[in-house]
Amino acid sequence: MSTRTSTCRICELLFILLWLSVSGQAGYPPASNPNTQLVNQILGYVNESVAACNDYYKYACGKWSEKHENDSFSEITGLIDHKVNENLIVLMDELQQRTLEPGSVEDKVLTSYQTCRQASESTRSSRTYLELVPPNEQIPWPQLKLRPDHWSSIKFQWMETLARLRRYGLTNVIFKLEVLPDLKNSSKYAVSIDRPYFEHKDQRLRGTLLTMLTLRMVGINSKKAWALARKVKLFESAVRELVEMEYEEKSEFYEELSLQQLEVQTGGQWRKYLEIVLGRNVPADYVLQVENSACLTALVHLVNGWNREVVATYIMLRFVAYVHKETMESDEPIECIQDVRRNMELATNLLYEQRFIGSEKLRQHQADILELFQLLRQQFLKKLDANSLQLLASELEMLRAKMLNMTINVGNMPNTADRTSFVKRFYADLHLAEDRNYALNHLRLLEFRTRRWFEQLDGALNATNFFFISDSETGMSSTPYYLLRQNIIIVPYGILQEPIFHHDAHDVFKVSLLGFMLSHELMHGFVSGGFIFDFRGNYNKLGKRIIMESEYSSGISCLNRNETDYLDEREADIAGIRLAYDVYFDPGSKFNLTQPSFTNLSLKQLFFLNLAQFFCGNTAPNDFADHDADELRLKQMLINFSAFAEAHGCREDLDNMHPAQKCRLW
Ligand SMILES: *[C@@H]1O[C@H](CO)[C@@H](O)[C@H](O)[C@H]1NC(C)=O
Ligand SMILES: *[C@@H]1O[C@H](CO)[C@@H](O)[C@H](O)[C@H]1NC(C)=O
Ligand SMILES: *[C@@H]1O[C@H](CO)[C@@H](O)[C@H](O)[C@H]1NC(C)=O
Ligand SMILES: *[C@@H]1O[C@H](CO)[C@@H](O)[C@H](O)[C@H]1NC(C)=O
Ligand SMILES: *[C@@H]1O[C@H](CO)[C@@H](O)[C@H](O)[C@H]1NC(C)=O
Ligand SMILES: *[C@@H]1O[C@H](CO)[C@@H](O)[C@H](O)[C@H]1NC(C)=O
Ligand SMILES: *[C@@H]1O[C@H](CO)[C@@H](O)[C@H](O)[C@H]1NC(C)=O
Ligand SMILES: *[C@@H]1O[C@H](CO)[C@@H](O)[C@H](O)[C@H]1NC(C)=O
Ligand SMILES: *[C@@H]1O[C@H](CO)[C@@H](O)[C@H](O)[C@H]1NC(C)=O
Ligand SMILES: [Zn+2]
Repeated sequence: MSTRTSTCRICELLFILLWLSVSGQAGYPPASNPNTQLVNQILGYVNESVAACNDYYKYACGKWSEKHENDSFSEITGLIDHKVNENLIVLMDELQQRTLEPGSVEDKVLTSYQTCRQASESTRSSRTYLELVPPNEQIPWPQLKLRPDHWSSIKFQWMETLARLRRYGLTNVIFKLEVLPDLKNSSKYAVSIDRPYFEHKDQRLRGTLLTMLTLRMVGINSKKAWALARKVKLFESAVRELVEMEYEEKSEFYEELSLQQLEVQTGGQWRKYLEIVLGRNVPADYVLQVENSACLTALVHLVNGWNREVVATYIMLRFVAYVHKETMESDEPIECIQDVRRNMELATNLLYEQRFIGSEKLRQHQADILELFQLLRQQFLKKLDANSLQLLASELEMLRAKMLNMTINVGNMPNTADRTSFVKRFYADLHLAEDRNYALNHLRLLEFRTRRWFEQLDGALNATNFFFISDSETGMSSTPYYLLRQNIIIVPYGILQEPIFHHDAHDVFKVSLLGFMLSHELMHGFVSGGFIFDFRGNYNKLGKRIIMESEYSSGISCLNRNETDYLDEREADIAGIRLAYDVYFDPGSKFNLTQPSFTNLSLKQLFFLNLAQFFCGNTAPNDFADHDADELRLKQMLINFSAFAEAHGCREDLDNMHPAQKCRLW
C-alpha cells in the first residue's frame, strides 16, 4: 500500500525544506553515484537462475514482483506516476499551510483536492449528480420525480437532454458528436457526428442485474427496477441492431452537411442540439462532418417512436456510468491527487514544474530531451536515405517532411514566456464551490474541460503555444504519447526522473529506456495507422500506398504471423527498438560508448537489460492480462532483433530467444 500518515508527510516536507535551504535549489538529495545506483537496481530484478537466451523476460524481470510486493503500482510507469502523486501530495500539504490568493491557480487546485478529501458520501452519490443535472429545466429524471405516478413525458426531448449532458463530456450515447481536427486541414477543428459504437464495455450498459442495481441505487423499488432494467436493455439492443445493419454510404470518409441539410435528411433537431452544446447561436448553414448519415436517420426515427420514460432512463444510466468512470474509488490522498491530475492537468503540470523541477533544471531537461529526439530523428532520416523498403521518391519525400516537422513538447505546457499568467487565464472562468460538494465541483470541472476543448473550434491552432487538453486517462499518466494529427510527441514531466531519467547517468541508461520510449512514439508516425497523415497531420493518399508497397507489406505480414490486435503498437515496438539501438551503437554515434567500470555487463547487455525494465510488472492475479501482454511484447521485439542474440551469444534456432527467421521493418 502506498498510504503514509500525514505526520510522516510533514517529516518528509521538513526534510525537503531543510535540504533546499542547504543546497539552494529544488530537487532531490544528491545520489551517491547514479550509475551504480541504477545498475544495482536493475540487477536486483534479475533472476540469475534463468538463462537470458531461453526466456529473457523471466531473466530480466524475474524478481520485479518480489521487490515491489508491497507497492500499489504494477510496473515502472506506475512507479514514476506514484512518485509524481506523492510529490503532489506534499505540495497540497504545503499549500494548506499557506494563505492563497483567492481565485489563483493554487487556490483552485487546492479546493479541488480538498473537495475530494472532505466531501461527504452523499455528495458523491449518483442521485446528487442527477439532481444537479436534470433532463431539462422543467422536469426531473423520471426516477427522481416528486409525485409517484406522474412524470411529464411530453416535456422530455431526448436530443435536448443529450446536448445538456454533452456539455459534461458524455458522448457516444445514441449518436456520437466530437470536435476534432479537420481530416483535411488539421489546423482547424470541425464538428463531427457519427453513429454510436458499442465494442468497448464502457460504450454500453452492463448486464440486466447490474442495470437493475443501479436503478435501485437511484431510488427505485426493486419490482419496478427489474421491469425497467429489462426495458432499457431492450432499447439498447434495438439501437445496436439498427447500427449494425448495412447502409449504403455516400462517401469514403464523411459527408459535409449543413445543419439544415442534416435536419432535413435525418429529422433530428441538430441545430438546437449544437446550440446547447456550444452555448451560442449557430447558423443553419454551419457545416458538419457527418459519417453514417443513413444510420443516423434510422436512429432518430427509432428513438422518436420509443417510450420516452425508457429513453430518458437509458440516457440517465449511461450518464451515471460515465460520471462513475470519471470518479476515484476513495477519498484517500493518493486517489484524490489523481483526481486533481486528471481534471486539472495543465494547472498540475505548472505547479509540479515550479515546485519540483525549477527553471534551471527545466531548461536542462528540455535540452537533454531535445538532443535525444534530434539524434533519433537524424537516425530515422538516415534509414529513409538508405531506403531498404524501396519506396518511391515521392513517398520518401512525404516521410522526410513528416519527420522534419515532428516536434516534441516537454511537460505538455504551452511554449509561452509567462506560463503562470497563461495558466491563470486558462482557468479564469472556472469557479469551484467551497462547500465540499463533490458532485457539484466534479461537474463544473467536467464542463470546464469540455468547454475549453470545444473552444478549439473558434480559433486556428497556434503551433507555438500548443498543448494538449487531455482526457482523464492521459492527464493522470506520465508516459510519453504521440499525437497523430498534430505530429507531436508529448513527454510528461513525471518521466524525467529516476529510474527512467537521470541527467548525470551514463548515456546507455538514457538511450535504452527513455530513448526507446521516444523512438516508439516517434515510430507511431510511421506505422500502418500513421502513414495516412502527412507532416501537418492531414489525410494523404500517398501514405495509404506505402502500406501496400511490397517490402512494407511483407514486413507487416511477417509481424502478424503471430497475430495481434495491436498491429500499430507492434510496428512501433519493433522499429523503435532498432532505432534506439542504432542511434546508440551505430559507427556515427554521438554517445559515450566507453565500457564503464561500474559493471561487468557489456554495454549491449546493459542496453537490453535496462530496456526490459519498461516491460517488467507484477504478477498479481488481477494484473495477469496486462503482465502477459508486456511479456509478449518484449519477447516479440527481442526474438526478431539479431543484435540481442549477439549481445548474449544465443544459439540460432537452439535457444528460444533466437529463431533464425526474423521480421524487420525499417
Ligand atoms: C528464478 O528462476 C527459477 C528458475 O526458473 C525459479 O525456480 C525461481 O522461482 C525464480 N525466482 C524468483 C524469485 O522468481
Ligand atoms: C513487504 O512487507 C512485509 C511485511 O511488512 C515485509 O516483511 C517485506 O519485507 C516487505 N517487502 C519489501 C520488498 O519491502
Ligand atoms: C486550413 O484552415 C486554416 C484555418 O482556418 C486556413 O487559414 C487555411 O487556409 C486552411 N488550409 C487549407 C489548405 O484549406
Ligand atoms: C515541414 O515540411 C514542409 C513540407 O515538406 C517543408 O517545406 C518544411 O521545411 C518542413 N519544416 C521543417 C521545420 O522542417
Ligand atoms: C502564437 O502564440 C505565440 C505565443 O503566445 C504568439 O507570440 C504568436 O503571435 C501566436 N501566433 C499566432 C499566429 O497567433
Ligand atoms: C517475430 O518473428 C516471428 C517469426 O519468427 C513472428 O511470428 C512475429 O510476429 C515477429 N514479431 C515481431 C514483433 O516482429
Ligand atoms: C504467439 O502469440 C501467443 C499469444 O497470442 C503466444 O502465446 C505465443 O507464445 C506467441 N508466439 C511467439 C513465438 O511469440
Ligand atoms: C564515458 O563513459 C566512461 C565510462 O563510464 C566515463 O569514464 C567517461 O567519463 C565518459 N565520457 C564522457 C565524455 O562523458
Ligand atoms: C566484475 O567481475 C570481477 C571478477 O569476476 C569481480 O571481482 C568484480 O567485483 C566485478 N565487478 C562488478 C562491478 O560487478
Ligand atoms: Zn504505442
